[in-house]
This record gives sequence, structure tokens and C-alpha cells, in this order.
Amino acid sequence: MTTILLTGGAGFIGSNLVRMIAGQGGYRIVVFDALTYAGNIENLDGVIDGSSVVFVHGSINNAELVHATMEQYDVDVVMHLAAESHVDRSIVSAAPFIETNVTGTLVLLEAARTFGVRRFLHVSTDEVYGTLGPDDAPFSEQSPLDPTSPYAASKASSDLLVMSFVRTHGIDAVITRCSNNYGPYQFPEKFIPLMTLNAIEQRPLPVYGDGRQVRDWLHVDDHCRGLLLALEKGGTGEVYNLGGFGERTNIDVAHEILRHTDGHHSLIEHVTDRKAHDRRYAINATKAQTTLGWVPTWSFDDGLKATVEWYQQHRSWCDHVRSGEYRSFYQQHYHRTL
Ligand code: NAD
Ligand code: TYD
Repeated sequence: MTTILLTGGAGFIGSNLVRMIAGQGGYRIVVFDALTYAGNIENLDGVIDGSSVVFVHGSINNAELVHATMEQYDVDVVMHLAAESHVDRSIVSAAPFIETNVTGTLVLLEAARTFGVRRFLHVSTDEVYGTLGPDDAPFSEQSPLDPTSPYAASKASSDLLVMSFVRTHGIDAVITRCSNNYGPYQFPEKFIPLMTLNAIEQRPLPVYGDGRQVRDWLHVDDHCRGLLLALEKGGTGEVYNLGGFGERTNIDVAHEILRHTDGHHSLIEHVTDRKAHDRRYAINATKAQTTLGWVPTWSFDDGLKATVEWYQQHRSWCDHVRSGEYRSFYQQHYHRTL
């Protein structure tokens, strides 16, 4: 049986991916996660069984532990999702992004090389391409890397490191770059769960600037299916863009969430814009469609409705993850009461 070392498996996308793979069978999964503010072991409730899904608590910056884990579990492939992932936090403090996203990725690459893993799937983002104008063609894999935020710069750096290990050391790595994900278990500092919880709790929905920024929303299940296809069928050193064909302005999404929650539209509050806020992301996913056979199945309208319902039904999870550091970070840096 193939053993996957899956980093960041207690986070949003990672935990959905672990559930999907565990449900399908055929793999042993070693979840490797530092359980930062964004990682919750509760996201894997009912999934970790100590044999087909095991959990190792640790940082990818701990080279000794990464090597020991690869050896102990005789790891075949790496699916690398662990990251600092929130743009707003990278604007306040970039150092943790360099440490985890760049140095941590390097530690994993070195370990993968030394141990001789068969394949390394590196999960990246469309944000490495920078921003688009309203009439620009969507990002393709040939679009130049032009990151805006420290988060995006750290992810672009890690992509370049991965490519350098393919070229220099001949490791078998594949990179995926997806658009904004949404779905269950997303930490509620990100736009869709934040707006949903505020709408449910009848608190203001803080829309940055004019709210006319565009994101290309991808349901997390569709993303995870794309990751598995890239792992199984992707070409060595290839990059695959994964997008949701769901371009929406933020303000439209906020209104849609208010409709699903019977919230009053006056709850929308235009607040100070994010620094250097990327105006539009959109993905050309033709390569993944034609070479991997990947097709996203969720429409944004159905996916958003199902996601809002999930948050309505999982209020204790929301209260749990929103405690402590989460509240103090936003109060200190964004002067918001959460
Ligand atoms: P997330 O913030 O929800 O989860 C990140 C996970 O990584 C957490 O469980 C955290 O504990 C863990 N982690 C952080 N630092 C670590 C370290 N040093 N060692 C081990 N574990 C550590 O992130 P997400 O939204 O699930 O994103 C997963 C990946 O997908 C990231 O690489 C991100 O850049 C990428 N991505 C996300 C999106 C999105 O919309 N969420 C879009 C494009 C790409
Ligand atoms: P986010 O979920 O942080 O993802 P990203 O910055 O990686 O795209 O934000 C999505 C969009 O929503 C982005 O244009 C910023 C905007 N946004 C707000 O308007 N208000 C908020 O409180 C947050 C967190 C984001």
C-alpha cells in the first residue's frame, strides 16, 4: 500500500483531503502538522485510526523529525500542504511565512531527496501570478510569477525551490496552483466563513474597499480531486492550474451569503482596503482538464449554499476555533471585535 506523508493535514484543505483519501482507501496517510492557530485536530475527528491514518505532531522546520517520520513510516510520496496561508497575517508579519512556506518546504525537499520518495506534490496558489485587470485572460501555467503579498512571494519562492530540486537533483515533483477554495472546515478568518458567521450572528460584514475585487471560487472537494489526479497522473516538473470557473466579486458573494442566512444587507460595512489588494484572480485550467481529466463538479451557487449550511450546523466547531489567538490578532491589528 502506498504511504503518503501529508503535511498540513489538520488545516482546511488538508483535512478535507485526508477525509477524501481515507474514504476511498488504497493509501496509508501519515498526517504531519504543527497544529498552529489554523490547524485543529478536531478537523480529523473520526478519521485518525492509528493504522491507515496516523497523526504526527510537529513542524516541517524540524528536519530531524521529518527524516525520522519518513523512515518510521517508510513514506512513498509527499503531499505538501502545510503553510501559513492568510494574506492579512503576512502583511502584519512576514517572517513566519518565510520560515514555514520557504524554509519548511526546503526541509521537506531535502528529506524527500535523501530518503528517496517516489513523488512530491507541492500545493501552491494562483496568487504567485499576481493580479489581473478586468479584461485580462485568466492565468495560465505560462503566466509570469509576479507575487504581490508576502504570502504570495513565499509561495512563489517555494515553487521555485521545488523546480530547482527537479532540475538539480532529479526529484519527481509536481506543482498545483489553485484558486480560492471554500467549503467545510475553513478557518473563519478567510472571506467566506468569516462573512457567513458574521451574517449568522448579525454582526457587520467587513468588505475591504469597494468590494469589486474578483476571486475564482473553487470547492475544496474539487480541489482535492485535482490534487489526487495530479499525484497519480501529473508529469514530473509540470505545473497544473486548478480553478473553479466561479469568478465573483466579493460584494456579490457577501450579498449571496446574506440571502442564504436571511441577514439584512445593511450588515455590509465597507472597511479600509487591504494593502496592495490584488484586484482579480482567474484561472485557465485547460491543462489539468485535458491532461489529468480533471473537471470541477460543484457550481458556485450550490457549493456556497451547502457551505453556509455546514457553518450553520457546526457552530460549536466555529466557537472553538475562533477562541484565543484568533480574536486577539484581529483586535490588535485590524481593530475589529470578533
Ligand atoms: P490552513 O491555514 O487552513 O492550514 C494550514 C495547515 O498547515 C494547518 O493545519 C497548520 O497547523 C499547518 N502548518 C502551518 N505551519 C506548519 C509547520 N511549520 N509545520 C507543519 N504544519 C504546519 O491552509 P489551507 O487553506 O488548508 O491551505 C493549504 C495549502 O493550500 C497551503 O499550502 C496554501 O498555500 C494552499 N492554498 C490554499 C488556498 C485556499 O483558498 N485556502 C488557495 C490556494 C492555495
Ligand atoms: P481571503 O479569504 O483572505 O483570500 P485571498 O486574500 O487569499 O484571496 O480574501 C478573499 C477576498 O476577500 C479578498 O479579495 C480579500 C477580501 N476580504 C474582505 O473583503 N474582507 C475580509 O474580512 C477578508 C478576510 C477578505
